[in-house]
Amino acid sequence: MNGFDTAWLPPEAFGPLGARRTLIRGSGPLVGTVRDEVARACERFGGEVVRDGSYDLLLEVTDGGLGAEEFTCAREGGTTTVTASNGHGLLYGLFHVVRLGAQAFTGGWPREVHRPATELRMLDHWDNVAVHPVMGQVERGYAGGSLFWREGRAREDFARVRAYGRLLAACGINAVCVNNVNVHAVEARLLTDRIGEVAAIADVLRPYGVRTHLAVTFAAPVVLGGLSTADPLEPAVREWWAAAARTVYAAVPDFGGFVVKADSEGQPGPFTYGRSHADGANMLAAALAPHGGTVHWRAFVYDHRQDWRDRTTDRARAAYDHFAPLDGEFAAGAVLQVKHGPMDFQVREPVSPVLGAMPRTRLAVEVQATQEYTGQQRHVCWLGPMWSEVLGFRPEGESGPSVGELARELVAVSNAGDDPFWTGHPLAQANLYTFGRLAWRPDADPYRVLDEWIGLTFPSAPARLVEGLHAVLDGSWRTYEKYTAPLGVGFMVQSGHHYGPSVDGYEYSPWGTYHFADRDGIGVDRSAATGTGYAAQYAEPWSGVYESAGTCPDELLLFFHHVPYGHVLSSGRTVIQHIYDTRFDGVAEAEKARRVWAGLVDLVEPAWHARVAERFEEQVRGAREWRDQVNSYFLRKSGVPDAHGRLIH
Ligand code: GCU
Repeated sequence: MNGFDTAWLPPEAFGPLGARRTLIRGSGPLVGTVRDEVARACERFGGEVVRDGSYDLLLEVTDGGLGAEEFTCAREGGTTTVTASNGHGLLYGLFHVVRLGAQAFTGGWPREVHRPATELRMLDHWDNVAVHPVMGQVERGYAGGSLFWREGRAREDFARVRAYGRLLAACGINAVCVNNVNVHAVEARLLTDRIGEVAAIADVLRPYGVRTHLAVTFAAPVVLGGLSTADPLEPAVREWWAAAARTVYAAVPDFGGFVVKADSEGQPGPFTYGRSHADGANMLAAALAPHGGTVHWRAFVYDHRQDWRDRTTDRARAAYDHFAPLDGEFAAGAVLQVKHGPMDFQVREPVSPVLGAMPRTRLAVEVQATQEYTGQQRHVCWLGPMWSEVLGFRPEGESGPSVGELARELVAVSNAGDDPFWTGHPLAQANLYTFGRLAWRPDADPYRVLDEWIGLTFPSAPARLVEGLHAVLDGSWRTYEKYTAPLGVGFMVQSGHHYGPSVDGYEYSPWGTYHFADRDGIGVDRSAATGTGYAAQYAEPWSGVYESAGTCPDELLLFFHHVPYGHVLSSGRTVIQHIYDTRFDGVAEAEKARRVWAGLVDLVEPAWHARVAERFEEQVRGAREWRDQVNSYFLRKSGVPDAHGRLIH
């Protein structure tokens, strides 16, 4: 390994392409990237970039009426042809040919048009420039330090950032936000006197078609500009932001825009001035509009200082209550960035009702590739099936559009850092890749995407390796769900860092994340009839489905209902027996995955294999800890023995 892993772009992935004769027509910086890629592959594999004469592959910029990121691909008479209307589309076309491998040069097929279903496919990095005393450098980062920032400044050596941009282009990602949504004092200045460092990063990402965005603090006019207010309707404040945007665009002409976490977990926002979130977002959209930028305004707004005794406040309701009434009020350049579930990236949550309630708002769905609540990249947890379920959910039922169709954009919190394997757990690379491909095509089959990732990452993998990787990854999300918090109830994690079990870790806290277990039962009553009314935030048929414990899907039962331990699930098991059984099954599955991985030792590069093997030790230890704490807790609370008489402590 040369400093860092090649991930899904090992040189061998370019073998078929690099052995051919390729003609490239077009000009501009991204066409230059395409040319460099092909030339490098040819140097290695004996092919040639030709100027005329015969060729096997034509990569051509034409005026074929294609959209900005689109490309076509056809093969006829022994020649493969990729066309695009600009370098960006051509770069995506090139990576399509790489993905096809030898198949790109076999047989024939008619012209196919490929286009992304979403306009923007972004990664948010929760990276701090300075190392934060509690959170470290990357908030919720499990892959080392930041890719962009080092020792309080932008890195001097951008080799990894360049490699990152290339990996992102190869899975279809076109935007990156380079700093944490919680904007601390040093990071606030990236907007103003330190914009040059952002510009340096943008220069490195640009050749891969990746635009740079910046998280900014809503209080910037006060903390940076010395104004007495950050009121979004105050002319001086609006002028300050307009001037700030002009400076940013002078440094980064293709700057993507701002990301804002406002009135959320202690971040400043428009509420301080009695203004709405639309007022705040629209002011920033107005500052960015003359330059073609957008503001990503996050909908993660709730009361994080709630009294746990107060049963009338329900955190799950908060985003809808705050934002649904504002539908239609956001400017064209404002995107509302909504977490996929109403709480916070738990292993199982219903789809956020906000996504079905704002037809007149530009929506981005935010998922979390960084595995804050799903094993922190020490446990293998491939999230493709979960994201795919979210994107396939139809808020108005079967006849209505899916979340993937409603969302104009997809955003993930990145899981990459300066770890040699990029993601701490090497298998977590699959999450990053899968996100990019699902963002391009939300209705793609995640298991096909996984096949693609395997094919690229492990070129010419024997069947035993392909099967082994599927065995370890396919069901890993459900396995993780089985040994952690049951039936959608969420959390039960240690507070602060969120790793490892603590059933009552958040039970009496101000964060609004409770399970309400007592001697008789468990779960949160979010029905309209007797609970918090959250279920009524959905349209039919879902409000009806979730309202009743009889129709609510098992996996979400405890999210929506407080039920006795003896409540019989649609699976036929009682809730308490389900808790016991699935904790035992989850551990058995983790142990099995560890065995499967051990059996692949002869097929995987030794350092790669060893890192995953080491993580499996921790996963199995952690899974047993979860099983034993959760089972013991519920045995003690309920007094109901395990029907199978297994050891519960
Ligand atoms: C979670 C996470 C925080 C993060 C927040 C957010 O609550 O624990 O670290 O800041 O999400 O998405 O803003």
